[in-house]
Order: sequence, then structure tokens, then C-alpha cells
Amino acid sequence: MSRFWKPGTEKPRIVDDEEGGVLFYSASASSSSGYGFSSMEKQRQRLPVFKYRTAILYLVETHATTIIVGETGSGKTTQIPQYLKEAGWAEGGRVIACTQPRRLAVQAVSSRVAEEMGVKLGEEVGYTIRFEDVTNNDLTRVKFLTDGVLLREMMDDPLLSKYSVIMVDEAHERSLSTDILLGLLKKIQRRRPELRLIISSATIEAKAMAAFFSTRRHRGPDNGLKKEPAILSVEGRGFSVQICYVEAPVPDYLRAAVSTVLSIHDQEPMGDILVFLTGQDDIDAAVQLLTEEAQSSRKQGLIFLPLYSGLPRADQDLIFSPTPRGKRKVVISTNIAETSLTLEGIVYVVDSGFSKQRFYNPITDIENLIVAPVSKASARQRTGRAGRIRPGKCYRLYTEEYFIKEMPAEGIPEMQRSNLVSCVIQLKALGIDNILGFDWPASPSPEALIRALEVLYSLGVLDDDAKLTSPAGFQVAEIPLDPMISKMILASVEFGCSEEVITIAAVLSIQSVWFPGRGAQKELDEAKLRFAAAEGDHVTFLNVYKGFLESGKSSNWCHKNFVNYHAMKKVAEIRLQLRRIAQHLGIVLKSCESDMQAVRKAITAGFFANACRLEPFSHNGLYKTVRSSQEVYIHPSSVLFRVNPKWVVFHSIVSTDRQYMRNVISIDPSWLTEAAPHFYQRQLLNPNPLQV
Ligand code: CDP
Ligand code: MG
Repeated sequence: MSRFWKPGTEKPRIVDDEEGGVLFYSASASSSSGYGFSSMEKQRQRLPVFKYRTAILYLVETHATTIIVGETGSGKTTQIPQYLKEAGWAEGGRVIACTQPRRLAVQAVSSRVAEEMGVKLGEEVGYTIRFEDVTNNDLTRVKFLTDGVLLREMMDDPLLSKYSVIMVDEAHERSLSTDILLGLLKKIQRRRPELRLIISSATIEAKAMAAFFSTRRHRGPDNGLKKEPAILSVEGRGFSVQICYVEAPVPDYLRAAVSTVLSIHDQEPMGDILVFLTGQDDIDAAVQLLTEEAQSSRKQGLIFLPLYSGLPRADQDLIFSPTPRGKRKVVISTNIAETSLTLEGIVYVVDSGFSKQRFYNPITDIENLIVAPVSKASARQRTGRAGRIRPGKCYRLYTEEYFIKEMPAEGIPEMQRSNLVSCVIQLKALGIDNILGFDWPASPSPEALIRALEVLYSLGVLDDDAKLTSPAGFQVAEIPLDPMISKMILASVEFGCSEEVITIAAVLSIQSVWFPGRGAQKELDEAKLRFAAAEGDHVTFLNVYKGFLESGKSSNWCHKNFVNYHAMKKVAEIRLQLRRIAQHLGIVLKSCESDMQAVRKAITAGFFANACRLEPFSHNGLYKTVRSSQEVYIHPSSVLFRVNPKWVVFHSIVSTDRQYMRNVISIDPSWLTEAAPHFYQRQLLNPNPLQV
């Protein structure tokens, strides 16, 4: 390996101890490293954050906002809510909330905390993620939830009055929902001076966050609380990590990752390996390649475990369970393992240098999921994961020169690279009218906001005064789905196909109904053909769901048909919840039996903005979006791949070498003008773009 790898000079610094203008508390923590067999209580006391228990409780008592910066694994997420509970913040029926950007992290940390407290998950400690509420109104005192769910709770309880302390965790991720939440919490604070906020993260521009929460300029009721945020830095106990760079750029990070893992196993002492790739597709491919290569070269003792959101519960548990003696765990993960989850036992990190990121272009109105380079801040976090139990090594699959000269220092907040349709409708539903003047932690581009307003107007969700329409606008806001999907559900009433469309909405909210074809792409393709509908993917999903029901929800049936059993169970669950929401909104549930035209019209009513037309003389399946003439193609995983109907609408776009439409349905162009006359007016004025 020494020929391939060049040692790096950079020392991973996890916490940036910058002072200036703000209160800054710091105390040195012990560097004890013991991770052994001891009682839960002892383990808790060994965490770096324990040394700061009194300081944290004091700051929260005396400050409206406390910012806590601490290395991943120092115990912020699992310990601080418990400290607050022990100090009485959950007395009198009040609740302590801790938000996370990722659902899987919510589930993982809440189980851990319930275990540490010796209580049953769902009672004193509970969690809520979209479509899954494991709390008890009377019993739950410590609640973990996604930041998106907390935003939704504001629709019923705008001041979040049941919470005494809200800890916004992983703030450095700057997810879209975290940023909206921070903006709204700042407003709530003025109305609820007794509310305490804790903003915690692994790396954060603490000063910028403190400046955002500084209340100097705002008069509020004075209750003796310090209004300037306090900043506490928790020193970690990470071990040093040796960084190795490749000497020349690698042409294929996936193969490079696979061969690096195998050579670590050959040459390095025992210790688990954590590999950072980008998403389920490349992670599954890597697991498959690794399994094959390990088999063919008779390598023993390796356990390969994928880690991404949407992983079934049983597989998640394997990730956290101790590695059997004499074995080496290889966890292949998305950036979820960067800071959200701490895995014990990792000694080696392999960093591809990439992650999947959302990018939105307000000019073309296309939001893409792109495999893009991570920032230096992320790369350092990834490196830090190797120093958990002893000195470790991090293999960066990019050159040192690239790291120094080209890698961006920080990532861009998601707010500035997302489609803002969901964000705008949520703010509107909370009565915030002046969206452009909202106090954001990072301002989105005015173009993106205007695009969002335009789409919402065309969906019939906003009126001429940019207020939510009644009832449609309020109904769309109430359904916890992307507004285009919610609109599709509302429209299905008119077309008499709400039962079918709710199934489609449920399928669109999971990753995939198919079981990734581990070495069996051909068989998977054949299985798909059994369900394939000429109309497109959405109707195909209906066929799959029907088959699943007819089989009596059998796992055997799923296995035989390359259908993902866990995903289908989830679809059935989400479907039930959507039915409940629909009934609550007074939506009539009706089946259209086999009238798939009704279903396609309902889809078009929600997704007209994603309409595309096949280029007239295209021989390679080139489509252009009607709206902005962007070049797009049907994704190879779609049942319409190579079928290429003239007119389609898509659900989402992914970019690799090209922009690919995922989940595509064929439509009749006249439905577009029916669904959204305003939206397509301009195009109609052009000579015949909508003529077939
Ligand atoms: O939030 P932060 O990264 O500071 O740390 P944490 O998530 O509170 O983790 C503290 C400790 O709890 C670590 O030693 C984790 O390994 C352990 N933990 C665990 O064993 N299982 C979980 N599901 C979550 C945390
Ligand atoms: Mg944490």
C-alpha cells in the first residue's frame, strides 16, 4: 500500500476554538479512553460531555440560547437530554425535545437513550419521524424527532408550548428543515421567553450562529435570562488519525474503495473499517463487489454491512452490535455516519470524497440529486471517525493537492440549493406572509423563492395575494408530503381514483419497491416486466402493490418477484396513515378500478410542472422539459426506458452523466393546460409547442 499512498500533513482538528465577542466556556476534559465492559452508568460518565454536565445545566438555566460545539461521539445527543430530564426540565408535564435532520439517527439515538434510562421506548423516551410516532402523550418526557416533524407540530401548536427545552442537534448540517426551524424558533423565543434553546453540532460557525440568535436588537420581556447566546465547547477525546492520500486521482472511487478495504484487511491490524460512499446504489454495488472479491480471494473474517436511510431495523441493529471476536466489520455508509451516528470500533476510514447532494437551479426549475465532492469540513469529520477507540488511519481517495487547492472549505446550506416549494407552503401555513423578509439563518435566493411562489400559485395553493387558498391550500399544507404529491391526492377526488393515488403517494415516499438485484440484474429486469404497465412507473407500482396484497403480504412472494418486502410493508403502513389524513380532511376515498386514465390525470394535476416532450427527431430518447427546454432522459430503471412516449411527466431527476427522470408516466398534453392553464399560458402563445 505504501506505493499507492502518500501520508498527509494535515492534522484533523475537529473543534475550532475561536473566541471573540461572545461568552465562551471551555474546560479541559480528560483524555481517558476506556471503552470496556462496565455498567451503563460508568459508560455514561466516561463520555467527554459528562465533565461539562454542571456547566451545561447552568448555561441552560441562565441563557435563552446555548450553543454547544463538540466532537462527534462526545455524548451531546444521548446525554444532554438526559441531563435536562435529571435537572427537572421535564417536570409538570413539560417535554424535552431533541431534533435530528435524519430519521435513522432519530430511531438509533432514542433507542439508545431508552436503554440507558432503563425504560421502554415509546414511554418516557419516545421518537417521532414522518409516518411513525412512537410516543405517548401522557408518558413521554424526552422526545427525539426530525426537525421536519417539529416544524409540522407548529401547525397545531405554533408556540410549541409543551416543550421546555428544544435541542436542535446536528445544526452544522444546515439542512433545509433545520434552517427553517432556527428561523421560527427565534420568533417563538420572543413570545415564549421561558423557552430554552440548545443548538448543538459537531462543527459550527459558533459565532455566526450566536450572532443569529443575538437578541440585542429585539426587545422582549425581561425575565432575568441572559439573551446573548452562550457558547460551550466540549473537548473531545479523539485519538490521532494518520491521513493517507492517493498519489494520483482515482478514475473510479467505488473500485478504489473496494481495493482499499481489501488491502487494509491484508496489511493492517484488526479494527473495523468505515467506508464513505454516496447512496444506496453505490453502497449495494460495493457490498456486492466486496463479497465477490473476498470470496474469490478466500479472504476470511470480513463482515460487510451497508448503512443508509431506509435500512430495515434488523440491519441497523447489526451496525451497532459489537464485532465478533476475530472478525472485522466493514460498514459502507452514506454521510449519515459522518456525524449523526457514532459507530464504536472503527479504526480505518476510507473516504471517497463524495456525497449525494441536492442542487436546485431556479432558472431551469430543476432540482437534482448529484454525486458531488464533499467539503473540507466534511472530510475532516470523516477522518475523525477513525480515532474513536485508538489511533487510526484515514484513506482519502483523492490527492492531497486536490484537498488543499480545490476542495471547498464549507458546504453550502441546503436552503441555498433546494427547491423551496415545501418550505414556502409551511411558512405560509404558519401565517408568515412576508417570505422574502423572513429572518433566515442563510437567505435563499429570491429567484428560488419566486419560483416556489409561482408553482404554488399554479397548483391552486396560493391565491393572487399569495395567501393559502381555502380549502385546497390548507389541505395541501396539512398533508405531510411534497405539495405536488399532496395536490395529486386532492385532484384524485375529482377523478374518482383516490385509493389508487394514495398507494402511489405511499410508494413515492419510500426509496424503491424493488430489491436491489445483487448480481441478478437480468432476473430483476424480468421480474419488473411481470408488473410493467404501458402507462409508466406509477401504474406499475399499483400492479406491484396489488400483487403484494393478493399474496397476503407474503415475504416469499416478494422474494420471488424481486420486490423489497420491508419497503412494501412500509408502503402499506404509510398508506393507512394517508387514508386517515385524507378522511380527516374530508377527502372521499374511491377506487377507479381499472381506469388508469383517471390516475394519470390526477398525477398530471400535481406534476404538470415536470412535463417533458420527446424531441421530434430524437433517436436516443432525448426529452426536453416543457418549462425550460432542459435536456433530460428516462432513467434506465423506469419501465418506460426505451419505450419513450411522446409526452411524460416525471417525479424527480437524478444526474449522473446525464439528467435522468425517475418515475415517469405518459400523458396527453391537453391535460397540462387543463391542469394548469396559467402555468402553460406562455408556452401556448408560442407557435405549437404543445401540438403533438
Ligand atoms: O451526539 P454525539 O456525537 O456527541 O454523541 P452521542 O451520539 O451522544 O454518542 C455518545 C456515545 O453513545 C457513543 O459512545 C456512542 O457509541 C454511544 N451510542 C451507542 O452506543 N448507540 C447508539 N445508538 C448511539 C450512541
Ligand atoms: Mg449527535
